[in-house]
Amino acid sequence: METIRQQLAGDLAGAKTPQDVENIRVKYLGRKGIVTLLARETDFSKLSAEEKKAFGGKLNELKAFATEHIAAAVEAAKQSGAAVQPQRELDLTMPGSNRMLGALHPITTTQLELEHIFQGMGFTVLRGPDVETEYYNFEALNIPGDHPARDMQDTFWLTNDMVLKTHTSANQVRALERFGAPFRGIFPGRCFRYEAIDASHENTFYQCEGVVVDKNISVANLIAVMKTLLSEVFRRDVKVRLRPGYFPFVEPGFELDLNCLICGGKGCATCGDGWIELIPCGLIHPRVLEYANIDPDEYSGFAFGLGLTRLAMMKYGVRDIRLFNSGDVRFYEQFAVTM
Ligand code: DAH
Repeated sequence: METIRQQLAGDLAGAKTPQDVENIRVKYLGRKGIVTLLARETDFSKLSAEEKKAFGGKLNELKAFATEHIAAAVEAAKQSGAAVQPQRELDLTMPGSNRMLGALHPITTTQLELEHIFQGMGFTVLRGPDVETEYYNFEALNIPGDHPARDMQDTFWLTNDMVLKTHTSANQVRALERFGAPFRGIFPGRCFRYEAIDASHENTFYQCEGVVVDKNISVANLIAVMKTLLSEVFRRDVKVRLRPGYFPFVEPGFELDLNCLICGGKGCATCGDGWIELIPCGLIHPRVLEYANIDPDEYSGFAFGLGLTRLAMMKYGVRDIRLFNSGDVRFYEQFAVTM
């Protein structure tokens, strides 16, 4: 056993690589290793109790010696190996790790952009309440209680006879009452309707109302403002069409439709027939001006109710309106800024 021990110490002294040490481990402690065989092939039955004890003790010492020294050699070989590895250089051209920042909701971004555009044309930005009286939401817009136009909007009625505003038009008379004529303003805001929900209908969506009241305002002014708006928002030529539309609070009334930017006008789940009703508009009905205490013989005006959510869909190519309120981070992340 003493010979084996010296031989092992000599072998380990000559080992350079982890593989050398591994070979030594197999040679001594492997299944057919020297130490293993010595233990296995000794016929203990031929030994007296005392001899057994002495021999067994020595054998255990030898095993412990081998195990310990081999383990130490493995460690030493690993470390000298590590020291030989080339040092990694600092590469300043490597891309850094991205950090996700919070981001504005795409509807907010679109709204801020609209506010910027209209402020550039001298419009005031105002915000009205979400819970509205029947008067401002319908009555003052020339939609009396028995008017069939009330059925055009599926309204959420509250138990106190107030409504969740069905359109931003509800802000028109509020603003005109307060500021009088002449006036230029937009009212972006949330609207609520009791809708059957699908890819293009939601119970909660955004509009951006606009009102201009001044002397000699005509359809020409309306069209000029719409053109400026569209060219600033899309920054490219977009196809639009103007057709007559009925709304009790304008006369004449129009629908300004945008050729769908998702399907290119072919027709899809978002637009239906290739056109998106984007900006209903018209000249303010004289009765609405009267409700606002403005003399329709002296002043005239135009109004429009831009579909802000629809605009965001067109701008960003969002096919399904339900994504906006989904709370799905995978959707919102696409609008996030990385640093
Ligand atoms: N408030 C209407 C709606 O939500 C849209 C609308 C039509 C607004 C014509 C206007 C307008 O200001 O002039 O259906």
